[in-house]
Amino acid sequence: MVEKISNGNQYARCIQSSKRVRWDIDEDVIRGRQFDTAHKFLPDGLSLTNTFTTLSADERRFVSQIQGRTYANIFGLVERFINAKVLELSRDYALGDQIALEALVRFSDEELKHQTLFRRIEAMVAKVMPRGYHFDFNPDSVAYAVLGKSSWAVLAITLDIELFTQLHYRQSIDPDVELSELFKDVFLYHWKEESQHAILDELELVRLDSMLTTEERNAAVDEFIELIISVDGILQAQAAADAGYFSNSCGRTVKAEELRLIEAAFLAAYRWQHIHSGAQHPRLVKVLSGLINEKQSQRIGAALATL
Ligand SMILES: [Fe+2]
Ligand SMILES: [Fe+2]
Repeated sequence: MVEKISNGNQYARCIQSSKRVRWDIDEDVIRGRQFDTAHKFLPDGLSLTNTFTTLSADERRFVSQIQGRTYANIFGLVERFINAKVLELSRDYALGDQIALEALVRFSDEELKHQTLFRRIEAMVAKVMPRGYHFDFNPDSVAYAVLGKSSWAVLAITLDIELFTQLHYRQSIDPDVELSELFKDVFLYHWKEESQHAILDELELVRLDSMLTTEERNAAVDEFIELIISVDGILQAQAAADAGYFSNSCGRTVKAEELRLIEAAFLAAYRWQHIHSGAQHPRLVKVLSGLINEKQSQRIGAALATL
C-alpha cells in the first residue's frame, strides 16, 4: 500500500539532490574561520533592526548578532523533533519502498549533521560575544511535547520551517552585503539540504493526510495551531532573555521603559522569522489549502492574527 501511494520519482530525485549538494561542516562550511563581531550576523530583513528605534548603529549590529545566535539555536532545537518524526515515518518503508526509505534516512542523517553544526556555531559565537547569553530550552523535552501531537500537525509545522529556511536565505541573508561571510555560509549550506527536506515533508504530509478521516484531520488542524502557539511561547521567553542580555551587555544603562520596547522589538522579529514569514510562504499556503477546508484555514488565520 505504501509503495502505491508514494511517488518513487520524487523520492529518487531527492536522493540525487542530497548526494549532489552534500557538504562537510569543517571542509565546506567553517573552513577554519572564526566569527568576527565587526560584522552583522542576521540580516535586517529578518532581524528588523530598524524597529529598534532607540538604539545606535553599533547597538543594532549587536542585536543582529544576538538574534543570529538565537536563530541558529532555534534550528538546532526544532531539528531534534524533526529528525525524530522522520525516523518514525521511515519505519513505514523499512520493508517496502527502499527508495523512499533511503530518501528519509538521508534526511535524518542531514538533520543530525545540522544539529552538530548549530552546536558548533553556538560554541564559536560564545567565544566572541559577551558572557551572559542564555538559550535554555531542552531539545528533548520540546521534542517530547511536539511529538505528542499527530504526525499531520508535526509535518505541517516541519514543512513550514523547512520552506522558510530557503525563503530567508534567498530573500534576506544572501542579498545583505554587510553580513558575516561565515554566518552567511552556514545558512547557504543549511538551505541546500533543506530544499530536499521540504519536498519530502510535503510528500509525507500528503501521504498521511490521505489516510485521515474528516474528524482526524479537523483535530490535526487544531494540533497544528497548538504547535504554532507553543513555538510562540518559546519565542516570547527567548525575546525576554535576549532583551535582558542586550541590556546587561550593551555598556550603558537601559531604563525599564526602553527595555520594554527592546523586548517587544525582539519578539516581533522572532515572530516574523519563525511564524509569519513561513505562514505566508506560497508553497505552504498551496499545500495546506489542498488538504484543509475554508473553515479550518480561517481557524489557522485567526490564531496567527493573535500573534
Ligand atoms: Fe536542518
Ligand atoms: Fe531539514
